[in-house]
Amino acid sequence: MKISIAQAAEYILKGQPVAVPTETVYGLAASLNHLESIDKVFQLKGRPSNNPLIIHVAEPEQIIRFTSSLDKDFWKIAAAFWPGPMTLVLPISIATVPNRVCAGLATAAFRIPRHPMAQKLIQLTGPLVMPSANLSGRPSATSVTHVETDFGIDFPVVDGGVSERGLESTILYQLEGRWVIIRQGAIACQEFVSVLGYEPFIEKHDRAKSPLCPGQLYRHYAPQASLELFKPIFCDELISNKVVVGYSDRAYQAAQKIYYLGRSHDPKAIASSLYATLRSLDQDGVKQAYLDFDLPDVGLYRTIKERILKASLKEG
Ligand code: TXA
Ligand code: MG
Repeated sequence: MKISIAQAAEYILKGQPVAVPTETVYGLAASLNHLESIDKVFQLKGRPSNNPLIIHVAEPEQIIRFTSSLDKDFWKIAAAFWPGPMTLVLPISIATVPNRVCAGLATAAFRIPRHPMAQKLIQLTGPLVMPSANLSGRPSATSVTHVETDFGIDFPVVDGGVSERGLESTILYQLEGRWVIIRQGAIACQEFVSVLGYEPFIEKHDRAKSPLCPGQLYRHYAPQASLELFKPIFCDELISNKVVVGYSDRAYQAAQKIYYLGRSHDPKAIASSLYATLRSLDQDGVKQAYLDFDLPDVGLYRTIKERILKASLKEG
């Protein structure tokens, strides 16, 4: 059910979560001050309580009251990438953030979205927690239809069209004085170099250790269809009569049906259509699809490949 921004603010202040467009993906928003509503967000998504939420604010100054130490490194990166698809995990002062939001950690995640509708809403409601508006484990929602598929057509959603970026924010954390990426995202690691003077290291998730980003523990972004990854060279036989997810500038002659993610040299287009395409496989009842994984290991492609790999995991 489509609602206006004013209605969304009313719902949120009453304690009813609503879905909200951001430039990355749609978020499932609840007020940071409404604990029952935050619980509803976890329930609606089927999200484990040890997976913390991102707090969305309108300005960096709104973060000051949650945290004891914002150094010049913070202000530098904040000024360069906010508002935008970046999330910073910061140490918090005791009892400033509800435990269920930060899952009992000594840190919390903060983001200032760029989408004007999300900005407007936060100005009306104050800080919002917003996980991606999808059932836990499924591809994130990048349109109203996706929200309705996961939460039903009566679920309140602000229509902001198709999400511009199509991939979640890049999450960074400060470790021994340097920012590290704990979730790759819509901002590629190279884009930080001009501001930080170094390329932030991408922290690899190690199941044996307690993760820097708890969400990385879980299966993610996955359609019901099983995804097999392939590289097109000499693969005609493999994809013969199969459903293929690929690129419009490549030929997959033997395929039975092809879903196009965009042109292979247009990572922005691939990013913005990835989740919608994975969701269409389920919509069309496809049980197994072969996804062309022959993409470079640079820039935004790295995030895209990480999402595809996660989406293709069979277990976990
Ligand atoms: O683009 C985005 O970030 C979207 C839009 C709606 O803003 N939101 C989003 O939220 O992707 P969610 O809940 O789907 O993913 C948040 C990730 C999870 O992997 C969670 O574990 C991590 O952020 N996170 C949250 N708080 C954290 C903390 N204190 N320390 C480490 N990771 C944290
Ligand atoms: Mg998510």
